[in-house]
Amino acid sequence: MSEIRTDAVVVGAGPAGYVCAIRLAQYGRRVVVVEQAELGGTCLNQGCIPSKALIAAGHFLDQVDHAQAMGFTVARPELDLGKLVAWKDSIVQRLTGGIGMLFKKRKIELVRGRARLAAPNRVAVETADGPVEIAARDVVLATGSEPAPIPGFEFGERVWSSTEALSPTEVPGRLLVIGGGVIGLELGMFYARVGAEVRVVEYMDQILPGIDPELVKVVARKAKKAGIKIHTSAAAQGWSEADGALEVRVEEKGKEQVFAADRILLTVGRRPVTRGLGLEEVGVKVDERGFVPVDAQRQTNVPHVYAIGDIGHGPMLAHKGSAEGLAAAAAIAGRPGAAYDPKVVPAVIFTDPEIACVGLSEAEAREQGREVKVGRFNFGANGRALSLQQTDGLVKVVADAADDTVLGLHMVGPNVTDMIAEGAVAIEGGLTAEDLALTIHPHPTLAETIMEAAEDVHGLAVHAAR
Ligand code: NAI
Repeated sequence: MSEIRTDAVVVGAGPAGYVCAIRLAQYGRRVVVVEQAELGGTCLNQGCIPSKALIAAGHFLDQVDHAQAMGFTVARPELDLGKLVAWKDSIVQRLTGGIGMLFKKRKIELVRGRARLAAPNRVAVETADGPVEIAARDVVLATGSEPAPIPGFEFGERVWSSTEALSPTEVPGRLLVIGGGVIGLELGMFYARVGAEVRVVEYMDQILPGIDPELVKVVARKAKKAGIKIHTSAAAQGWSEADGALEVRVEEKGKEQVFAADRILLTVGRRPVTRGLGLEEVGVKVDERGFVPVDAQRQTNVPHVYAIGDIGHGPMLAHKGSAEGLAAAAAIAGRPGAAYDPKVVPAVIFTDPEIACVGLSEAEAREQGREVKVGRFNFGANGRALSLQQTDGLVKVVADAADDTVLGLHMVGPNVTDMIAEGAVAIEGGLTAEDLALTIHPHPTLAETIMEAAEDVHGLAVHAAR
């Protein structure tokens, strides 16, 4: 057995782990990263990046429709699914290759294999060439999450998780999506665009539970227009195979129904990957749902053992994991910024149209007993949105009624995922709605809708008719 001695070892090379490793190297620490699969984790390989590539391809079909309205004669493009998947893979490979290159430049050693904690400062790895032990003062766990199954719906050829849905060999004729959350809606809308008949079964009384219903309404309307059938307050009970097709039993508002499908896409959430890591054996606390509790430095109950990303509490989002990685690296190196303490974590959803939220929604603010003022502005009154032919959607600014502080920015519409950072800066900086309204936003841009919604907090949006 070979042994490596280093300053820090990071287990898992997703957006939490690889960012932490690079920052540790920037701080002059010797770092070893252990990864059993490709660099980049779920985000780069089976999540954010491949899904956005497919979704961008779906948007291309929309643009063809728009081109016709502009006066072009365009034949409906034929899709070669194999080539689309290969193009998507090429984007993933460029990014994962980029991480490998950054590791080399920073002299970060990569050990490929499955890791387990042998002691608080010792990681045992099963590699293709046999066992390796890594001794380090600090250990950072960043092993991520995996799709969660439900009883009766084990993943396989017929029941896809997001992983299979991102590398299809054919577009299913009828796709039944269980779980109308972020992944179910993003991928469901892509599949509808490329020709599948899509049906979404959602347990709660609204798709995208937790998102402002005023925003969700815009996406639900567009989904229906695209032919997607949505069943809310509905739970999938089981499935069987008959004559090559699937029959899925669904209880909707107390009534049992059977829907025919060719594939099931199960997207009912993700669960942390913490089993088999030896955590309990070395005394690291794991809660009953498999998450690892941590302090503000992302340190577990065992000194010098850190946990970042999806295995900790909070939203399972790449940018949250990366921020935790930076905080943990600073804590390990004794540098400033050694606490994960954001006021807000923005969320982005790549549906059609996109949704982006940061801070308190109107309902959340009122639930907290706060008096709020809400400003709205529709994309239909924005010149840039009109020229892009993407006028569905609105922007809501939620401000404290007493002192005008921005509490939330909630948007549905074109490119809102690129604009939400303005709201995060406003909230982190303690800005007021008036600050947003008085900040000159360039014309003609989609971002003017934020300025006008902020003006509307005081009833002063220039381009609103009301
Ligand atoms: P989710 O939590 O967003 O949605 C799961 C949905 O399934 C919920 O609406 C839930 O009510 C429903 N559900 C649960 N059990 C059900 C049942 N038995 N029958 C019917 N419906 C049921 O989880 P999802 O979409 O799997 O995503 C997992 C994680 O990945 C999330 O934390 C999400 O934030 C993250 N993610 C983020 C993305 C982004 O930032 N754009 C993209 C994709 C995923």
